[in-house]
Order: sequence, then structure tokens, then C-alpha cells
Amino acid sequence: MAYDTIITGGTVFTADGQQKADVAISGDKIAAVGKGLAKGKKNGANIVDARGKYVIPGGIDVHVHLELPFCGTVSSDDFNTGTRAAARGGVTTLIDFAMPEGDQSLEDTYKAWRRKADDKVCIDYCFHMCLTRWNIHGPQMAKLVEMGCPTFKQFMIYASQGWQANDRAIFSALENCKKLGAMLLIHAESAGVLDELIERHHTPALMKELGAQLHGITRPNFIEAEAIQRAVKWSEATKGRLYIVHMSTADGADIIRDAQERGAPVLAETCAQYLVLDDSLFKGEDGHLYGCCPQIKKKSDQDRLWKGLKRGEVCVVSTDTCSFTREQKAMWEGDWTKIPMGMPGLETLLPIVYTHGVLKERLSMKQFVQKCCTNPAKIMGLYPRKGTIAKGSDADVVIFDPDKKIKVDHAKMETNTDWSPYQGWKLAGFAEKTFSRGRLIVDDYKFCGENGWGQWLPRKKPGKF
Ligand code: URP
Ligand code: ZN
Ligand code: ZN
Repeated sequence: MAYDTIITGGTVFTADGQQKADVAISGDKIAAVGKGLAKGKKNGANIVDARGKYVIPGGIDVHVHLELPFCGTVSSDDFNTGTRAAARGGVTTLIDFAMPEGDQSLEDTYKAWRRKADDKVCIDYCFHMCLTRWNIHGPQMAKLVEMGCPTFKQFMIYASQGWQANDRAIFSALENCKKLGAMLLIHAESAGVLDELIERHHTPALMKELGAQLHGITRPNFIEAEAIQRAVKWSEATKGRLYIVHMSTADGADIIRDAQERGAPVLAETCAQYLVLDDSLFKGEDGHLYGCCPQIKKKSDQDRLWKGLKRGEVCVVSTDTCSFTREQKAMWEGDWTKIPMGMPGLETLLPIVYTHGVLKERLSMKQFVQKCCTNPAKIMGLYPRKGTIAKGSDADVVIFDPDKKIKVDHAKMETNTDWSPYQGWKLAGFAEKTFSRGRLIVDDYKFCGENGWGQWLPRKKPGKF
């Protein structure tokens, strides 16, 4: 077979292990993985020398909000800047949350989200469908599964956005997931107690004294823990598959581990920011910039989440990318309840997990690939097209230099923000080259892809990992 590109001499990492091997690409697929593929096959093939480099499957970020109308503004990374940022960070597939507007049907929401994305995306992508009006959306779930969207999302909070789902809706959605072979993603925080704590602290005196620290103070760990516990109970009762998004607490990880030991069909992701940032940041002058939802927690939570990743109860690292500029964040005007909540993350996902996970020996390279590439693909119904380096898989491949650290500087990044939670951090694991379906989209750490290159991916039913 004629190869278009042969990546030679690198160390190839997959979820199963590592090998010194060449990777040959024909068209948009991986054609072969093995030794000596370049011998006698050079005719016309582009040879990429990866000696001394790591070769991994493209990252998959399963939790992204691009161009999301939220907190009185719209998240600043659109489907163009967001996917350029992803590419530069070695992420070749993302899953965004398609959010209905008011009473919009799921099908119309899907179409509207495709219209926003299709001409702009530089990497492959798909959607989780948000269920914000149970009476309208519940009966529409089967159709969306048929259309290739087998994962749904509900929020236990955000009444003011019109997104909140009550227990009745969550229980019923899990029943539907069981019937349809689908999976329910839950934002787990206890709305009632959270609202009570917010109201108690929402005084001019406390806001003057504590500023953005109130964001952390009003969301103690039990806010997440109680909600996860409740969702787990409904999952066990209905046998509907449950995936807790952006889990941020040690308490949550304990609950998930216990539930999995009982055989409950529950999974949990965490996000890069919960592994490396803590709530002391709220004290600084720029403390409000770090406001995200749920908020960053404590060092002890970080340690527990790393442990959960290593042991397995935390199966995926995502980003919950929801970027806002300084100007947007300034809308808070000293009131933490008005902070546009979210951070940029796509460009730094792999570098954060590699630098703070692998280089600090919290994770092996194999676990790094599992958590950032292969598990997301398997769990979200994209495997083996995505998430691995194997014959027949899409040629989504990242080459990085394991030793090269780059100082994070928002001014040099693709992401559309004028700040970074990791400004000045030195991170290894940035993509030197990124291939998306065989096309080079990052070369020498610079984006060289194309708007509209990304394809929408119909998905199979969520799988096991
Ligand atoms: O702060 C965040 N995460 N914003 C996005 C919405 C959400 O809850 O995921
Ligand atoms: Zn959320
Ligand atoms: Zn989110």
C-alpha cells in the first residue's frame, strides 16, 4: 500500500502500552504500525522523523462549551479559536454541549449548533444534547440517539439560566438511557443548599471583605457530594448509565468508588483545573478570573482526584472549557454571583496532565493516554475510530517532545482570552505536530490547519473501557 506519511523512529504510546515503531498514514487513516515501514516505501511519502519524541493518539476533550450564551455573556472561544487551541494542545476531537434555547427541540438545537460550528471547526467534533425542558426533550431522546448523539446532559443547578433539571427529570432521563443504551451526564451540585448559602453570604459587608473568596466559601464539598450521591442513587435504581461531569471533590471520588464497587453503572471525569489549581487563588487581585462552576477546591481534593485517576474511579480528564476575557470577567463588579463562570483549557489539557501527572509520577504514560485519549473515545462511543493508534483508525496523531517545556503565555496562544490560569507555568507536552485525519494541522508548535476541516462525528452507543 502507498503511504502518504510515515512517522518514523518515535515511541508510540497507546492505552495498552508502548513500542518503538513507525506509524504509516494513507489518506485519513492509519495504514500500519510497526518497525521499518519507511524501508523501500519512501516513494512520495512524507517522512516525519520522530526520533526521541513521543507519538500518541490525538487527545479527546469530552467537555467543552464554545460560543455558549452563559452568565449574561457568550463564552469567548468560538468553534474556530476553540478548535485551533485544541489542535495546538494536541486535542483532535472535542464534544461540545448543544444547549436548547428556551423551548427549542433537541433536533432544532442540534441543527443550530451545527450551523454555528461547521464552517469554523478545525478538528472533528460532536455534541452532547442538553435536556433543559424535560416534557419537551424526554420524548425526543430516541431520535437523537438514532442521529448519532447518544449522550445527554442535565444540570442540577442553573435555574436562572432555565437549565435546571429536578429529580423527577433526572430519574426519568436515566430510565430512558437504560432503554436506549444511552448515557446521562450530570452537573452535580445541590441547588437548594447552594442557594441558601449564597443568600446568607450575599451582603455588601461580606462581599467587600471577602470578594471572590465567597465563591469557594458558598460551595463547600458537601454541595457536590450530596448531589453526586443522589444521582448515583437514581442510577442504581434505574440501571441507567451515569457519568458525573467535572467532579472536583475528594468526597465525590469516594462516593463514585463505593458505587462502582457495588457494581453501579456510574463513571466520573475530572478536569485539569481541579488537579492543579486550588481555592487560595480567589484571594488574589485577579481571584475572580478563576471563578468556574463547580469552583476549584483544596490541595487535599487535588490529591484524591489524582489518586482516583491512578486507581480508576476517575476515568477521564476533560477541560470544561468555557473561556471569558478579562472584560467579561469584570462584569462581576465585586459580586461573586455575577462572575461569568469558566476558564480556557483546551490548549493546555495534555500539557497539564503530562507535566503534573506523568512527569511527577502520579500517572504512567499508559494511564495518561487512557485518561485523555482512549477512555474518552470508548466511553463516548467513538472507539476505535478515535482514541488509539491502530490500523484502520483515523490518523489523529500527536508528536511531542517529552523534555521540551514551554512557558505558557496567553498572548502567544490560540485560545481567545487575554489571560491564562497557567500564565508563566512551564509545561511539557505541547504538540510539536498534530495530525487530524492525516492532515498536518500543527507544525513546529504552530497551527497550520484549515477552517471547516473538522467533521461532525456520529457516535455509536457509549461503550465500556
Ligand atoms: O464554569 C463552568 N464550568 N462553566 C460552564 C458550565 C458548566 O457548568 O459546565
Ligand atoms: Zn457543569
Ligand atoms: Zn461544563
